[in-house]
Amino acid sequence: MEKRFGGLKHILRAQDFSRKWIEEVLFPKTDEMEARTLKGDRGQPLFGKEMISLFAGESLRTRASFNIAMKRLGGEITFETEDVRKFSSMAKGESLEDTIITLNEYGADVIVLRYDEEGGAERAAAVSDIPIINAGDGGGQHPTQALLDLYVIQKHLNRIDGISIAMIGDLEKGRTVHSLAYLFGKFDGVKIYFVSPDNLKIKPDIKEYLNRHNVRFFETKDVREVASKVDVFYQTRTQTNLGTKPFDRADEKNGFTVINKQILDLAKKDSIILHPLPCTDEIVRSEVDPDRRAVYIKTKGDRMSQVKGGIYIRMAILWLLLF
Ligand code: NCD
Repeated sequence: MEKRFGGLKHILRAQDFSRKWIEEVLFPKTDEMEARTLKGDRGQPLFGKEMISLFAGESLRTRASFNIAMKRLGGEITFETEDVRKFSSMAKGESLEDTIITLNEYGADVIVLRYDEEGGAERAAAVSDIPIINAGDGGGQHPTQALLDLYVIQKHLNRIDGISIAMIGDLEKGRTVHSLAYLFGKFDGVKIYFVSPDNLKIKPDIKEYLNRHNVRFFETKDVREVASKVDVFYQTRTQTNLGTKPFDRADEKNGFTVINKQILDLAKKDSIILHPLPCTDEIVRSEVDPDRRAVYIKTKGDRMSQVKGGIYIRMAILWLLLF
């Protein structure tokens, strides 16, 4: 099992993956999962395998896609809670560690964990013999989302090396941005424009990592300044559930971080617009959704949406981990 993950036992942080594993193992397996799904293959390669799903933190896509991926491959979800803090003995004061140790005693093949504090997945992994998949830990990381984002970029642009990307919004707490930025450290010639108000900038540890890995990055408050230069717009939500105060996304002083018709008019014809979702007011949906470049949710024709990529990447991850 560990070999299939390039020596990793748990999936905790994006910087732990190697480029070779992403390109030679994960992406081909994800393509295979897409083909299998489109064919309606009902084989059960993960029959008898058990997944536990623990979520402390709001989720639709991550939780649903892991569950659906597991069941579609014939595996079982033997225990799950959408609010582990409320519906387990954590409500009585039990620690995360004791929760994970208990579930280890019962046994399973994988534990998918979303936690509402940074470092939750690493704490769980420290006491777990069962592989832990970090499904988002507070303002920390969300490595499987970043892998799917990277896969969708590769699908649409046919390359990752040399792309320019604007990562926009609440960059301080946006864990999907953190994980994706770390993944770009594995590739060559990627240029990142971080676009956020001054109080929500990308964290210094990520900038240091990017410097060490020769990723060029620039910071600005106005997406209009970079809109004509980028191949990918990676828009993100204000992380209000993690304590960020809502702000005006089209503020001339604080920063212009909304995607609307004006941005579409400036953007390259073959660029793509991504968003990990959920989306609130940071994309003017009535203006942007009909555009071919918008691939975050339902797409026109046979273009793969980012949401669909999520199911295929999670099928691939579970297969590689458990088959
Ligand atoms: C993201 C998350 O939970 O970090 N959503 C997701 O998993 N698709 C982004 C967000 O909540 O803003």
